[in-house]
Amino acid sequence: MSQLSIKTEGLTKQFGKLLVVNNVNLEVPKGHIYGFLGPNGSGKSTMIRMLCGVLEPTDGVGEVLGYDVKREPESIKQRIGYMSQKFSLYEELTIKENLDFYSGIYGLKRKESRQRQQELIELSGLVGRENQRASSLSGGWKQRLALSCALLHRPELLILDEPTAGVDPVSRRIFWDIIKQLAKDGVTILVTTHYMDEAELCDEIGFIFFGNILIKGKPAELVKKHGVRNLDDLFIQLVEEQENNPLKGGGLTYV
Ligand SMILES: Nc1ncnc2c1ncn2[C@@H]1O[C@H](COP(=O)(O)OP(=O)(O)OP(=O)(O)O)[C@@H](O)[C@H]1O
Ligand SMILES: [Mg+2]
Repeated sequence: MSQLSIKTEGLTKQFGKLLVVNNVNLEVPKGHIYGFLGPNGSGKSTMIRMLCGVLEPTDGVGEVLGYDVKREPESIKQRIGYMSQKFSLYEELTIKENLDFYSGIYGLKRKESRQRQQELIELSGLVGRENQRASSLSGGWKQRLALSCALLHRPELLILDEPTAGVDPVSRRIFWDIIKQLAKDGVTILVTTHYMDEAELCDEIGFIFFGNILIKGKPAELVKKHGVRNLDDLFIQLVEEQENNPLKGGGLTYV
C-alpha cells in the first residue's frame, strides 16, 4: 500500500451551529496531486485550515504526514508548505529579499538557504529578476515567487488554496508544469481550484458541496461514470441536482 500524506476520518467543523465541514474522509497518497473543488463557501478553505493545524476540528480525526491535527499541529506546520490566493509577499522587498526573509522564518542555514534559493529561482523561471521588487512583478511572477517561498524548507506536502485565481492562462500553465514536476519528485499536493482544466490535471479530485463530499475519484473515471462530456458539465450537474433537491437545497446546514 502506498504511503498516505493525508488521512482523515469523519473530519468535521462547526462554527457555532453552522456545519461547515461534515464528516469528511480523505486519503491522499504521497506524491499525488489532489484537487478540491466546490462552490464558494463550501468549506474548502476551512478543511485546509484544519489540515494545516491552524484550526481545531469539532469532530473526527486527521493525520497529516503522520502527525495528528489536534495533538501535533506544530509538527505539521513545520513540515508543510502553504500558499494562498493572497500570496503573502512583502511588496516593498525584492525577490531575493522575500526569499531571504522566508528562509529566516524556516530557520535555514546561510549556505543551505543560498543553495535552495538558487534552485527555486531556476525552477520558477525568476532568473535575472532577483533584485526586482515584488510590487513591480505581474500576477504570474508574484505567484511563482510565493510558490518558491513556500518551498524553501523542502516540504513533503504542499497545500495550495486557489493559487491561480486571477492569473493569466500562460502563467497558469507554467505554474502547473512546476506542480507536476514537484509531484514527480515525490511532493504531495493538495490544491483547491475553480478551474476545471486544472482539476483534470489532478490524480484525484473531491467535490465538496456545502460541507459534504459528494463525489471523489480520478477525473477521467468520474466523467465516464456520470456519462458527461467533461468536468465542467459534471460540476454543473451536481450543483443543479443539489439545488433542486428540496431536502438539501443550496447552502450550509445548521445543526
Ligand atoms: N471563523 C469562522 N466563523 C464563522 N463562520 C466561518 C468562519 N470561517 C469560515 N466560516 C464560514 O464557513 C463557510 C465556508 O467557508 P470556506 O472559506 O471554507 O469556503 P470555501 O469553500 O473555501 O469558499 P471559496 O471558494 O469562496 O474560497 C462560509 O460560509 C464562511 O462564512
Ligand atoms: Mg476558500
